[in-house]
Amino acid sequence: MTADTTTLGDIRDAKLAQDGVRRIEWAAREMPVLAQIRERFAAEQPLRDLRVTACLHVTSETANLMLALRDGGADIRLTASNPLSTQDDVAAALQVEYGIPTYAIKGESIETYKQHMETATEHGPQFTMDDGADVVALLHKSKRELLGDVIGGTEETTTGVIRLRALAKQGELRYPIVAVNEANTKHFFDNRYGTGQSTLDGIIRATNILIAGKTLVVVGYGWCGKGVSMRARGMGAQVVVTEVDPLRALEATMDGFRVLPIVEAAREGDIFVTVTGDVNVIDQPAFDVMKSGAVMANSGHFDNEINLTALEAMTEARRDLRPFVEEYALTDGRKLIVLAEGRLVNLSAAEGHPASVMDMSFANQALSAEYVVNQHSNLENEVYDVPRDIDDEIARLKLAAMGIKIDTLTEEQERYLNSWELGT
Ligand SMILES: NC(=O)c1ccc[n+]([C@@H]2O[C@H](COP(=O)([O-])OP(=O)(O)OC[C@H]3O[C@@H](n4cnc5c(N)ncnc54)[C@H](O)[C@@H]3O)[C@@H](O)[C@H]2O)c1
Repeated sequence: MTADTTTLGDIRDAKLAQDGVRRIEWAAREMPVLAQIRERFAAEQPLRDLRVTACLHVTSETANLMLALRDGGADIRLTASNPLSTQDDVAAALQVEYGIPTYAIKGESIETYKQHMETATEHGPQFTMDDGADVVALLHKSKRELLGDVIGGTEETTTGVIRLRALAKQGELRYPIVAVNEANTKHFFDNRYGTGQSTLDGIIRATNILIAGKTLVVVGYGWCGKGVSMRARGMGAQVVVTEVDPLRALEATMDGFRVLPIVEAAREGDIFVTVTGDVNVIDQPAFDVMKSGAVMANSGHFDNEINLTALEAMTEARRDLRPFVEEYALTDGRKLIVLAEGRLVNLSAAEGHPASVMDMSFANQALSAEYVVNQHSNLENEVYDVPRDIDDEIARLKLAAMGIKIDTLTEEQERYLNSWELGT
């Protein structure tokens, strides 16, 4: 809508743009599925003139998604979905080189973060693309006058989907949203292999700690927790899992991990990783018994999984030891370490997920956006799963891009699998 976008956006430093371009191109090498979608979008313009507010982690992978949407005709405003996850060079490249107004500065205050989001909605979005449902929440809470123009949206992560389902259950959701997280080609890979690798990457980059031989406690054995546990074991850690869900606890046990209540695990852990999407999962009773020197990191969406208010109350002094490493010196003499202020450690202290998994997550975003644009008049104000055919197509494209061939059913097998009469 806005012809002159050059005055919009708020980034750290325009001079970083060329670094950002190289980084975005580097990520693109591992995003062949999204590249195919971008090519088709450029030809078909399925999002022509669609005003989009995207609230996502501003990383090189997200930049590739933004370019696909832009080439598909969308008029985008991009704002950060976390104050610490922005790659400033990427933000600069998007803004300066690719003409996408971007509101994101790594380390911005909460006030700036909120202001950025507000400003990114000022063009009156017709479509929202969220990671954590913050834009949906903003529009439903304090910018309701904008709701009338919105035809639909997408949501990237587990926590956002939980919030949106709660909104829909109250009958308050005002437009249809596709839950990208629920696609198999998203959470099987992004949450598990992406979070598994990048969480350890964040911990290692921040601390340079040796994982081998450590007791690493994973709080929550969902998709992310499975990935973190699997990769930590691979690096030689003794992994302990804590859970509240009996099925998941059983799964962790049979996957070969020790399962303990958090207060027992707290006594043993050298490193703690929270990945629950739940609040205060490490709290004072656990802090009370932790070993001095224990390191805590969060890879769940919000920074409320480790109860930092309770920890602060037990603390005499705090100091930064290295970037993203803060020591809490407790009144009883022990010292506990918190990484990245309890925010997503993989995106704060490292670079988030590798591009190859984001290829699938963002292929889902792009195709779901196209789906909503085409289908919105047939959709209710509900949270929808990604249509199965989109999910299957992304898996097919990814396999093909990786050069992996699979078999197809013979006619006999098709018949057999579709019949009830045939048996022994
Ligand atoms: N770091 C990233 O880049 C990244 C990527 C994907 C998802 N996420 C976020 O990670 C979080 C987890 O996502 P997921 O897909 O694994 O969710 P999930 O629902 O599959 O798993 C969460 C698990 O945490 C468990 N849990 C809840 N409360 C607990 C408690 N008090 N103690 C122990 N376990 C508890 C649940 O029983 C569940 O098994 C969400 O906030 C999600 O948005 C982060």
